[in-house]
Amino acid sequence: MSGTTQPSTPRLAGKVALVTGAGRGIGRAEAILLAQQGAQVVVNDISTRAGEMARDVVEQIRATGGDAAANTDTIAGMDGAERVVRTAVDTFGRLDILVNNAGIVAPAEVAEMSEADWDHVIAVNLKGTFATTRHASRVFKRQLSGVIINTSSESGLGHPAMANYAAAKEGIIGFTRAVARELGRFGIRCNAIRPRAFDTGGTTVYYEAYQRWQPLYDALGRYSVGTRGLIRGKARAETVAALVAWLCSDTAAHVNGRTFCVGGDEIGLWSEPELTRSVCRDGGWTLEALDGIARERLIGDLTNDFLAPAVGTKEL
Ligand SMILES: NC(=O)c1ccc[n+]([C@@H]2O[C@H](COP(=O)([O-])OP(=O)(O)OC[C@H]3O[C@@H](n4cnc5c(N)ncnc54)[C@H](O)[C@@H]3O)[C@@H](O)[C@H]2O)c1
Repeated sequence: MSGTTQPSTPRLAGKVALVTGAGRGIGRAEAILLAQQGAQVVVNDISTRAGEMARDVVEQIRATGGDAAANTDTIAGMDGAERVVRTAVDTFGRLDILVNNAGIVAPAEVAEMSEADWDHVIAVNLKGTFATTRHASRVFKRQLSGVIINTSSESGLGHPAMANYAAAKEGIIGFTRAVARELGRFGIRCNAIRPRAFDTGGTTVYYEAYQRWQPLYDALGRYSVGTRGLIRGKARAETVAALVAWLCSDTAAHVNGRTFCVGGDEIGLWSEPELTRSVCRDGGWTLEALDGIARERLIGDLTNDFLAPAVGTKEL
């Protein structure tokens, strides 16, 4: 399908947006597009080189007539997240849009994964999403309006050698569903994206992991979820930003608790999980009953699709 591109009037005039991890990559593209659409934007990224990049993004937005402020707190803890949200309220008087984009990866096979790698990935991706949402939702509830976009990943579907990242990103999907249901009655929407972008800083680590574990991914074939974004190399951050800005606008006022994928030419709506089979037995289940009815009607034709005997760990 192709569509004509019309010059559009700003869709987010009068709104205040906060984008975490926006010094580069997808977050940078999101901050710039939200500002182009009339929002005043807090550009957050951690204080090192990334913090400087956040200030550069602010300069770029201002140079093109937009309004933005930088914040260099980490969102991985409650206090930093509170300061990020307060930057929006203190600088622009309110907050309407929260884009939880900040994320990191630390690839390792689960048998080799360090506790530090687990904790850091969970802290930035999952706890960081909670921390900003926790503080922003208080502002949103007072206003009886607000939009939250959470950044998950196709890696959450089961990316080998990224169990920490997969757990965090799939946790974000559950978090999104719960927040959407809880805050919907206050006029607050919460949706998630599983983006693909090839032109970001984060992609470098991702790509190194892809090369390192390529034999495993090849052996798993279509079950090697999480690597499609790299294979589809033309995926750009701007495409992700377009979906995010659209979801933040009133055009998407009826969209809540949903998960989208976006990358390159493709955009998609993920289905919500549902029970595919179930069996009931009066009085509950025993081991023997499981051997009988459950084996036959619940798991009978299931196969173990993840056995890859050709792949020895020594080659990886
Ligand atoms: N690029 C892809 O194909 C892809 C695929 C799936 C999911 N994602 C997700 O999209 C988001 C953006 O990815 P990207 O590729 O643009 O990554 P990126 O590394 O280019 O940008 C992420 C930014 O987050 C910042 N950040 C890290 N820790 C932070 C913290 N504690 N507080 C504030 N900022 C912090 C980093 O400094 C960096 O600037 C991430 O959540 C990532 O997991 C990306």
